[in-house]
Amino acid sequence: MKIIQSFPRAILGAWPTPLQPAQQLSRYLGCPLYIKREDMTGLGAGGNKARKLEFQLGKAQADGATHVITTGAIQSNHAHLTASAARKLGLAPHLVLSGTPVAEKSGNLLLDALMESEITFVSPPAGRPPLDTINEVMLDIAAGITKEGGTPCIIPEGGTDALGTVGYILAVEELARQLHPLGLDQKRILIVVATGTCGTHAGLVAGVRAQSHSFDILGVSVSGSTPIKLNKTAKVATETLQLAGYDHAVEPGELWIEDRYIGSGYGELTEECCNAITTAAVTEGLFLDPVYTGKAMAALLDMGQSGQLSKYDAVVFMHTGGLPLLFHYDSALVSFNK
Ligand SMILES: Cc1ncc(COP(=O)(O)O)c(C=O)c1O
Repeated sequence: MKIIQSFPRAILGAWPTPLQPAQQLSRYLGCPLYIKREDMTGLGAGGNKARKLEFQLGKAQADGATHVITTGAIQSNHAHLTASAARKLGLAPHLVLSGTPVAEKSGNLLLDALMESEITFVSPPAGRPPLDTINEVMLDIAAGITKEGGTPCIIPEGGTDALGTVGYILAVEELARQLHPLGLDQKRILIVVATGTCGTHAGLVAGVRAQSHSFDILGVSVSGSTPIKLNKTAKVATETLQLAGYDHAVEPGELWIEDRYIGSGYGELTEECCNAITTAAVTEGLFLDPVYTGKAMAALLDMGQSGQLSKYDAVVFMHTGGLPLLFHYDSALVSFNK
């Protein structure tokens, strides 16, 4: 922890985020449920990336950055949060988004535009462009900024690198402090999180290992097969622990990831996800998103209903944000609910 405290940090969020009991929704699981409100981080429209960006942009500021470049899907929450963080710190955001420009801006793209983010669209003939292509585009933009006398900082896709991920070591410390007065910090706890670029899950794993908690962590993949996610999460968790001064390697076999709830692909709605969004809204007045948290909740409800949670004293669901996506998927969700 001492090493992390020596890292430059730009305070972007309001900590701790609330840990709220969800009594109505608990009934669907057969075990007490708490929601860790990472959607209430206090940056932009909220979400998990604030914890990573505090360290990445802390370093960027220390390095004298003037511009922040990052990348994501056209509706990326990470891109909007990076732009929010950049604006808050007086830096200029440049987003490299995969897709083609659209006339009508909704969801995160609307927020990107409101912040007058510079946007470069990268559109391959089909699907998402390879990460190498995107990285080249970001390097070209960075070179252009340098040529004009600026200092660019590139944040990787999803904000996932060891430096950003240390933010989630601190999140585990924060969570344990909140569980303590509830008498739950030494109990059997399951933490459930949606996983995309794997940084949030990896940071939680690193935090649990660093502080020797016995919490289990389930990563619900929204975009790739379990073996790919296991390897990446183990790698990022190990690098994060090393950066934070802990000598502990995480092996893929120690991790738990489910890829059964993705449906036909990243960002594609599933019936279970729509049901989970409705269930959270009806029971708790809680809003989940259709790309990340809705799928993670679909997994949790499925496991609760099939009796797989009976060994836990409580479940902590990481609400990682994504609210703007709800408004982008509005017509699909409305037609599902008809
Ligand atoms: C709302 C939301 N939840 C979860 C995630 C997954 O986080 P990670 O990319 O660190 O796996 C993201 C990533 O963009 C997100 O936007």
